[in-house]
Amino acid sequence: MQRYHPVLVALHWLMALMILISLTAGWVILDNMANDDPDKILVLTGHMSAGIVIGTLLVVRLVTRFRTGTPPRATTGNALLDRIGIWTHWGFYVFVAGMALSGLATALGAGLFPIVFGGAAETVPEELSGLPQRIAHGWIATVLALLILLHISATVYHQLVLKDGLLRRMWFGARS
Ligand code: HEM
Repeated sequence: MQRYHPVLVALHWLMALMILISLTAGWVILDNMANDDPDKILVLTGHMSAGIVIGTLLVVRLVTRFRTGTPPRATTGNALLDRIGIWTHWGFYVFVAGMALSGLATALGAGLFPIVFGGAAETVPEELSGLPQRIAHGWIATVLALLILLHISATVYHQLVLKDGLLRRMWFGARS
């Protein structure tokens, strides 16, 4: 088998895009907006909806991954790099799930669902920023961003140094 199942390919690129947008929006927009800024609710409507969709797609991805055949494990010729590759891939599942769950816990802890989706208040509560799950959401985001950097560096290494065409496996086309 030379490629991943087309559902996994589609989910990979869709989730990559949604995660990059969510990380950027979280750091660049949300983190720099005061809690008493009424516009924050609009940004949170998009961020919370996208985050819940990402969490749901992660479950669909995991189920599809175990139900479909995959190409043989990629190798670099270096046992340590190969082991880092395996751990990075499982790390993605753990940290993306961690983002979705800590985001949900933050929204529940600050009572954001009725405010963001039900118009229950004009602004978000000030306590939001100090909640432990909110602080965890920020730290998990940092680890996830580091994993993404590692993942992109490995892809560049495979494409440009090893020239083994690894990226083809994560695109549509004949699988055998
Ligand atoms: C993979 C999914 C997600 C990603 C990548 C993501 C990313 C981020 C980032 C980077 C921040 C800013 C962190 C910081 O600077 O400390 C943030 C804040 C936040 N996120 Fe998420 N998030 C995700 C899912 C969710 C979900 C599912 C919810 C709720 C249902 C949520 C609710 C929030 C809230 C309430 C904040 C705080 C905003 C503030 O304090 O101003 N996130 N998110």
